[in-house]
Amino acid sequence: MNNALYNDQNILSEEIKRRCTFAIISHPDAGKTTITEKMLYLSKTIRSFGKIKPKKNTAYTQSDWMEIEKKRGISVTTSVIRFLYRDRLINLLDTPGHADFSEDTYRILTAVDCCLMVIDAAKGIEERTRKLIQVAKIQKIPIITFINKIDRNYKDLNILLNEIELELNMLSSPINYPIEYNNNLLGLYNVIDKKILLYSNNSKKKDICNNDLFNNLNIKDFSSKNNFSNMTYLKIKNFVNVIKNNFITFKRSDFLTCNITPILFGSALDNFGINFILDFLVKYAPFPQSRLSNVRKVYPDENKFSGFVFKIQANMNLKHRDRIAFLRIVSGKYFKGIKIFQVRTQKKIIVTNAVSFLANNRILLDVAYPGDIIGIYNHGTVKIGDTFTAGENLNFVGIPSFSSEIFKSVHLINPMHQKRLLKGLFQISEEGAIQVFTPLVNNNLIIGAIGPLQFDVVLERLKLEYKLELFYKEVNIFTTRWISSKNINSLNTFILHNKHLIGLDREKSLVYFAPNMINLKVIISKNKDIFFSKIKEYQSY
Ligand code: G4P
Repeated sequence: MNNALYNDQNILSEEIKRRCTFAIISHPDAGKTTITEKMLYLSKTIRSFGKIKPKKNTAYTQSDWMEIEKKRGISVTTSVIRFLYRDRLINLLDTPGHADFSEDTYRILTAVDCCLMVIDAAKGIEERTRKLIQVAKIQKIPIITFINKIDRNYKDLNILLNEIELELNMLSSPINYPIEYNNNLLGLYNVIDKKILLYSNNSKKKDICNNDLFNNLNIKDFSSKNNFSNMTYLKIKNFVNVIKNNFITFKRSDFLTCNITPILFGSALDNFGINFILDFLVKYAPFPQSRLSNVRKVYPDENKFSGFVFKIQANMNLKHRDRIAFLRIVSGKYFKGIKIFQVRTQKKIIVTNAVSFLANNRILLDVAYPGDIIGIYNHGTVKIGDTFTAGENLNFVGIPSFSSEIFKSVHLINPMHQKRLLKGLFQISEEGAIQVFTPLVNNNLIIGAIGPLQFDVVLERLKLEYKLELFYKEVNIFTTRWISSKNINSLNTFILHNKHLIGLDREKSLVYFAPNMINLKVIISKNKDIFFSKIKEYQSY
């Protein structure tokens, strides 16, 4: 290997080891936004709190990319945030949590190497988190658990940990544990570092007490320093001894193979314990991983560039009517002016203006490495599931589409605009937040989404961008399944008998509209030759 190549390879390996790409998943209100904010504060990316999410009822949100976000004061789109903590470059993919939850949110988990599951300590695992866990498990992503809001009353921790183990089907390994006395939170004991972080609700000032020091310190000194009675001191010491011996010892290999979930506690509101999450991430989170393609496995340290698109965001800036494709780099290096090969279209494109993100701010990138998420501007030429390489003909697999959960048929006030409606809906659905179906038996287009807000977003966007006025009608669809069969005759007979419950998706794949769960179960059991799938791989050809 010549010197220049050797150097490039070395830099690539070093850069890969610096990256950490993770997503935060939670049920709405568990504290995801507050945690993100505190992480950005601790990493000195922002200088004060309240930059990402304003107080309620204020008109402006930094991540407001669309009118509807401004009106509602919540984020419709998934943000990618990049920041440096200690010497690791962290790519954080935030997932919308409210009614704006969409299929996109699930797909985010295909682009990360681990995820942070945030739980409200008083509520335990809630519905949205449960669904995201299922997807994380399909993707075999290591899960870190953060139990938030321990500054106020919480569930019995043994019950909570049991619940988490059952839901994840993994053992839990607390990295830190709350120390309480007389129902008051005194601090967090860090099982790995053997240090105690004393609790204070002053979110900018935190005392760390080294446990050795704590053990050797004279009771009087320690107690007077911390305003504790001697009795409290002894109780804490006893408590620490009990928890030290009670938990499964954390092993990074068990975490990376999804056999355990490390548990961290804290209060995002009080900026208490968030530094432990960051310290954990930089020390133990997986490096950017290899990825399977239809041809071979691609490794991050291969010097040729490759990546895949997991999200499209259109019209982030209405004035420019641009689309931005979110691409996760799998191998090699991106540099300004790179020529990359779009496998689906077999075309080469030169990229000079890839960006990275901080909420709605986009920063022009000179270079990027495996694990990084880059944004590529385009005018509808890039699709979800697209693979880009340095020339090799391969497609990354495992970028799925998921069954929708809410369905409505869409109707024009002026029926003359049907063609424009089709164009608009197909373009919006290409971004991946909604699905559009055409029934076999009539022309009523059906929209499927996961969160109810998507329907408002579509209405608003079609009005704003396509000048279309429309309304929805309820439809009797409970869920959908993609259908296929190895036996074409069986498939044709099935279609013939059930055509009133079958439609086509945007890519003309067959979809069964199940009116209820019982119907679905019966139809599956009666048609053994037909394969019913909740998930569909994106077709990047
Ligand atoms: P989300 O993104 O997961 O939806 O949650 P978010 O951070 O917006 O937090 C939801 C609510 O929970 C917010 O209160 C927030 O202040 C509060 N919260 C977050 N972390 C903690 C914590 O550790 N302890 C306590 N006690 N509360 C916490 P809000 O009143 O709904 O909104 P805001 O007016 O404070 O923004």
